Formats: sequence, C-alpha cells, structure tokens
Amino acid sequence: MSFKYLAPVVAVAGRVAAQSCSAATTTIQNQGDASGLAACTTFSGSVAIATGTTDNIQLNGVRAITGDLVANNVSEITSISADSLERIGGSFSLMTCEILSNLNFPQLNEVDQIEWEGLPGLQGLSFTNKVQKAGVVSIVNTYLSSLEGIDLQVADEINIQNNGYLDDITMQLGNVSESLRIYANGRNVSATFPNLQWGKSIEINNASTISMPSLASVNNSLLFGSNFFESLRLPNLTDVGATLAISGNEAVTNISFPQLTTVGGGLSIQNNTKLADVSAFPELETVGGALDMYGDAIDTADFPKLNDVRGAFNLQSNQNLDEACSEFQQYKDNSVIKGSFTCRGEEEDPEGQGSDKPEGTSTGNAGSGSNGGNGGSDSAASTLKITGATGILGVVAVLFGLL
Ligand SMILES: *[C@@H]1O[C@H](CO)[C@@H](O)[C@H](O)[C@H]1NC(C)=O
Ligand SMILES: *[C@@H]1O[C@H](CO)[C@@H](O)[C@H](O)[C@H]1NC(C)=O
Ligand SMILES: *[C@@H]1O[C@H](CO)[C@@H](O)[C@H](O)[C@H]1NC(C)=O
Ligand SMILES: *[C@@H]1O[C@H](CO)[C@@H](O)[C@H](O)[C@H]1NC(C)=O
Ligand SMILES: *[C@@H]1O[C@H](CO)[C@@H](O)[C@H](O)[C@H]1NC(C)=O
Ligand SMILES: *[C@@H]1O[C@H](CO)[C@@H](O)[C@H](O)[C@H]1NC(C)=O
Ligand SMILES: *[C@@H]1O[C@H](CO)[C@@H](O)[C@H](O)[C@H]1NC(C)=O
Ligand SMILES: *[C@@H]1O[C@H](CO)[C@@H](O)[C@H](O)[C@H]1NC(C)=O
Repeated sequence: MSFKYLAPVVAVAGRVAAQSCSAATTTIQNQGDASGLAACTTFSGSVAIATGTTDNIQLNGVRAITGDLVANNVSEITSISADSLERIGGSFSLMTCEILSNLNFPQLNEVDQIEWEGLPGLQGLSFTNKVQKAGVVSIVNTYLSSLEGIDLQVADEINIQNNGYLDDITMQLGNVSESLRIYANGRNVSATFPNLQWGKSIEINNASTISMPSLASVNNSLLFGSNFFESLRLPNLTDVGATLAISGNEAVTNISFPQLTTVGGGLSIQNNTKLADVSAFPELETVGGALDMYGDAIDTADFPKLNDVRGAFNLQSNQNLDEACSEFQQYKDNSVIKGSFTCRGEEEDPEGQGSDKPEGTSTGNAGSGSNGGNGGSDSAASTLKITGATGILGVVAVLFGLL
C-alpha cells in the first residue's frame, strides 16, 4: 500500500474529532487539541490530557464536561486552565503531575468527584467562583496551603490528608452524608466547619484547632486522634451513633461536650497525656459499648447523669482516683455499668480495657487513611487505559486495519 492513502484517513479522523462534542474519551496532546474543543459548550464524555503533554493547556469555551477531566502522570505539564468551565459531571482527577503549579478554573462550581493526589508543585488554586457542590473530595499529598476555592455547601465524602503545608480547612458544609476524614496535614492546621450539623462518620487527626459549633449528631463514629489542640469543645453535640474516641491528643487539657446524652458504641478517652479532668459530659446518660478512660494525668471524672453503660468500664491513671472510683463503684453496684469493672489510680502504666476495647479506638488510623488514596488511583488508572485505546493507539490500530 502506498503512503498517499494515509493522509486523507488522518485528516478525516482529525476533522471528526474537532467537530464532535461527544466521545467516550477524547485525549488532548497539546494546546491545538484543546482549542479544537472551544466550540463545544457542553462536551459529552471525558477529556484526558495525555501523559506526554508539555504545553500549558487552556480548555477555553467549554462550559460543561459530562464525564471526567483527567491528567494522570503528566510529568511536564505546569498549567491547566478553563475560562468558562462550570461543571464536571464526573471526576476531576489529577494524579502525579509533579510540576503542575497553576490550576485556573474561575467558573467552576460543581464537580462530582475531586480526586487529586501527588501534586507537589500545586500551592494554590484560582477558583474564583468556588466549587460549592461535590460528591467526593479527596486531596492527598499536595503542597496546597489553603483550600480557598473549594467551599462546599454539600458533599458526601471528604478526605484531606498528607498536605504538609495546608494550615486552613474551612468549609460551609451543612452535613456530610458519608465521611469526613482529615489526617496528617500542616502541623498548625485548623479545621473549621461553622455550619456542619451532622455527619455520618467524622475522623480528625493531627489538627491544631477544631471548630464545629453546630454539630448536633454523628450517625456512626466520631474520632479525634493525635491532635495538637489544647481544648476541644462540641457545644451542640447531642448524640453519636457508634464510637466516640478522643485518643493521643498530647496537648489537650480541657474537653467539653455539654449536651451529649447518647453514645451508641464505646466512649474512649485514651492517652491524652495532659488531660486531668474528664468530667466533660454533664448530660451523658447512655453508652452502648465500653466506657474506657486512661491516661497519666486523669484525676477527676464525674458523670452525674450516667444511667446505662452496656459494656465494660475502665478508668486508670497515675493519679489518685479514690473519689472517682467510689462514684463509679456505685454505678457498678446499681447495675448502671453492665460489663466488667476496673478502676485503678496510681497506676504506673495506665492502660485500656484490652479485649473489651471497642473497635476503631486505636490511635493508629493510618490504614483508613490510605484507603482513600488507593480508591482514587484505581479509578484513575482505569480511565487512563480507556484514553490509550481511543487516542493515538486507537488511530494507529485503525490504520493498520485499513492497510
Ligand atoms: C504513572 O507512571 C508510573 C510509571 O511510569 C506507573 O507505574 C503508574 O502506574 C502510573 N500511574 C497512573 C495513575 O497512571
Ligand atoms: C444537608 O445540608 C444541605 C446544605 O446545608 C441542606 O440543603 C440539606 O437540606 C441537608 N440535608 C439534610 C438531610 O440534612
Ligand atoms: C497557628 O495558627 C494560628 C491561627 O490559626 C496562628 O495564630 C498561629 O500564629 C499559628 N502558629 C504557627 C506556629 O504558625
Ligand atoms: C445549637 O443548637 C441550638 C438548638 O438546637 C440552635 O438554636 C443553635 O443555633 C445551635 N448553635 C449553632 C452554633 O449552630
Ligand atoms: C444522620 O443523622 C441526621 C440527624 O439525626 C439525620 O438527619 C440523617 O438523615 C442521618 N444520616 C444518615 C446517613 O443516616
Ligand atoms: C497523626 O495522627 C495519626 C492517627 O491518630 C497518628 O498515628 C500519627 O502519629 C499522627 N502524626 C503526628 C505527626 O502527630
Ligand atoms: C501515648 O501518648 C504518648 C505521647 O503522645 C505516645 O508517645 C505513646 O506512644 C502513646 N501510647 C499509646 C499506648 O498510645
Ligand atoms: C474549659 O473550657 C470551657 C469552655 O471552653 C471553660 O468554660 C472552662 O473554664 C475551661 N476549663 C478549664 C479548666 O480550663
């Protein structure tokens, strides 16, 4: 076959791609490809930026992408922008783009999933209009110093971890229908959720300040591990469906849960080395699992309204606990405490209730943290395979078929 047949075939393929505003996935290799989409108000399908792309990509003109916008392993790209893009119907996935430093999406408001991981060049966002709606937001291992530009009113799942320079996480969320997880960000990070009323499960680790003044209810677990704050106050919280754990917060001296009445699972206050007074629950009546409290400094524990602890009871510390233990001994004698009973002051090594320890209260939550990351890269990897088949390789395969 002679070479002259090749040119028309490529030209036809190119023209179809340029005029079509729909494709399973269209792969952009350079700015010329991106400009080819400018006439598409809505692009029906996914847009992927090819691994070898070196141009700055400006995806101008497009207002909505119904599928994903993906850049995976694009090691030489520095800037991605879209002047009109308001909505991404699928995932906005950016994985391992080492020198990506500029993300300029001034109109972006709604994304189904934000999945960003491995963006060491990314220090800030230019999202003037702010993303207010997202199903999933997972931001892992970036150099972002703030999330200015992402201010969610509604979300199902939020996972913010290993962003070592991030020192402010503020969101106007009213509720989180699945999970909120914050882990290993900047040493001085504050987590501020002024309007959050309920969450299905919430886990906050390694934060310096936590503010959730409206939080009234957590359907499953509420975990605070290895934080740096000195005081923790949840003024409106009335019930936690499963475990409430406050563990390994080395600076905390004051905790306060003035309206909490019910903990459906275990209540664990463990190894907060400076916490002396755990009388933080003046209204607490019911603990569905174990009530487990230990730590060097605990000397005062008064739970005036307690009337049902279905699991074991454990209180241990270095300090004298005579007064607290006599109060809890009465609760044991009156069968308020149903499970085994341990209360010991002046213990060299205060420790937990062993086998009665409820799940999810260990201080090592690194496992749950890495799950989020894995989920993200799995879905990104499968998208990448599709783009390979319909991009260059697809065209080459078609040509060979014709020859
Ligand atoms: C990125 O590239 C590396 C090596 O080239 C590969 O192992 C990895 O799976 C790629 N990651 C994604 C998300 O495609
Ligand atoms: C969740 O929060 C949003 C935003 O505040 C609100 O519009 C919605 O009604 C809330 N849903 C529930 C079930 O509370
Ligand atoms: C930590 O953040 C607070 C505000 O949240 C600020 O006042 C303080 O100076 C910061 N400390 C350090 C060491 O950066
Ligand atoms: C706390 O709860 C009360 C009563 O439900 C409500 O009136 C108040 O606005 C809540 N406070 C905050 C800061 O949400
Ligand atoms: C969680 O609890 C809140 C308040 O009790 C409730 O409105 C919401 O529907 C519950 N959410 C889930 C996912 O169960
Ligand atoms: C961050 O929190 C996790 C889980 O609570 C803990 O294992 C880890 O040691 C903490 N890291 C720092 C630097 O405090
Ligand atoms: C208790 O906390 C201290 C300091 O925060 C830490 O070094 C120690 O490993 C913790 N112990 C347990 C059993 O979590
Ligand atoms: C603990 O904090 C509460 C409110 O945040 C405050 O009223 C109380 O005085 C504090 N207690 C101590 C011992 O610092």
